[in-house]
Amino acid sequence: MEKKIILTGDRPTGKLHLGHYVGSLKRRVELQNSGKFDKIFIEIADAQAITDNAHNLEKVRQNVLEVALDYLSCGIDPNKSTIFVQSQIPELCELTFYYLNLVTLSRLQRNPTIKEEIKLRDFQTSIPAGFLTYPVSQAADITAFDANVIPVGDDQLPMIEQTREIVRSFNNLYGDILVEPKELLPDNNSCSRLPGIDGKAKMSKSLGNCIYLSDEPEVVYKKIMSMYTDPTHLKISDPGKIEGNTVFTYLDAFCKDEHFKKYLPEYNNLDELKSHYQRGGLGDVKIKKFLNEIIQEELEPIRKRRKQFEKYIPEVYKILKEGSEKARIIVAKKMDEVKSTMQINYFDDFNLINDQTEKYSSNSDEVANKKKVK
Ligand code: TRP
Repeated sequence: MEKKIILTGDRPTGKLHLGHYVGSLKRRVELQNSGKFDKIFIEIADAQAITDNAHNLEKVRQNVLEVALDYLSCGIDPNKSTIFVQSQIPELCELTFYYLNLVTLSRLQRNPTIKEEIKLRDFQTSIPAGFLTYPVSQAADITAFDANVIPVGDDQLPMIEQTREIVRSFNNLYGDILVEPKELLPDNNSCSRLPGIDGKAKMSKSLGNCIYLSDEPEVVYKKIMSMYTDPTHLKISDPGKIEGNTVFTYLDAFCKDEHFKKYLPEYNNLDELKSHYQRGGLGDVKIKKFLNEIIQEELEPIRKRRKQFEKYIPEVYKILKEGSEKARIIVAKKMDEVKSTMQINYFDDFNLINDQTEKYSSNSDEVANKKKVK
């Protein structure tokens, strides 16, 4: 049976937030503990982070640890999942360099996530070439491990699609050795892309609209109380809108029926709460306080575990080092396979050496013969 291999990762450009958590982290921990996967690799994609932080390396350097702490505190267990740091595996760059020939510039420019990111970063016409091509390096990350299950949020779909295209070209051109990956999206739609607390499409550090996994309870409370709701819902008695109302989007992502019993027993479920809000007579403060209880309950164990790991920072670096060493062995093996499939393994290719020898020996025979004839 085909092995089930998971690979996923994050750029270390900041602490991880609730969007990362529902979109991917929480799922990873569940997948890890399900025992259904043969191998799980989790990448701290620092080289990818550098593609738009070349002038800000210190930020990346600091956040490698922050992301590792976030992983561990969410329940990623280094005995079950290999956590590694991208830059420590030089073969990934090597692989990227060859894959770059299998995509066109216009294909890269069409990638919708890249387009959106370019707009957000205001690169205009000064797009770093490394940034535009990072999806190719991500294809290398995925294929170097023969990963076939990629748990991600929906913003990563274009990357997986691009990876599949590269895999097909490679396999057609050189030989069938790369595995086509499949995305694994969150089953709950609201988890695919959690909006920022300001209601903007995405939680993002640069927009300053995130709730971080490591935020203290008071900070979380303040952020939730300031959330964007329905700007036309002015008085409690006004009817309110659910669509585009951030509090309800978050409730869709986090709320379970048992939360009502615990924190808001006047309602049985989210549908009842929603219809009351739509009818009018339900204030924003009440729904925000309810959401706060739920989010605090979810974050509390994560925060506690983080405080534990923060006491053992050298150990955390050791986990990353050992994970990177383990990952490198696997990637180096794959790189050997790639090189021999592309036939750029000259020194191990005895057929090549023999053929060339023969070619030149017959050549020199001919030359010798001609000379003889004269
Ligand atoms: N691009 C991803 C992000 O921005 C991070 C990432 C890097 C990744 N390598 C990956 C995700 C491989 C999945 C698989 O979040």
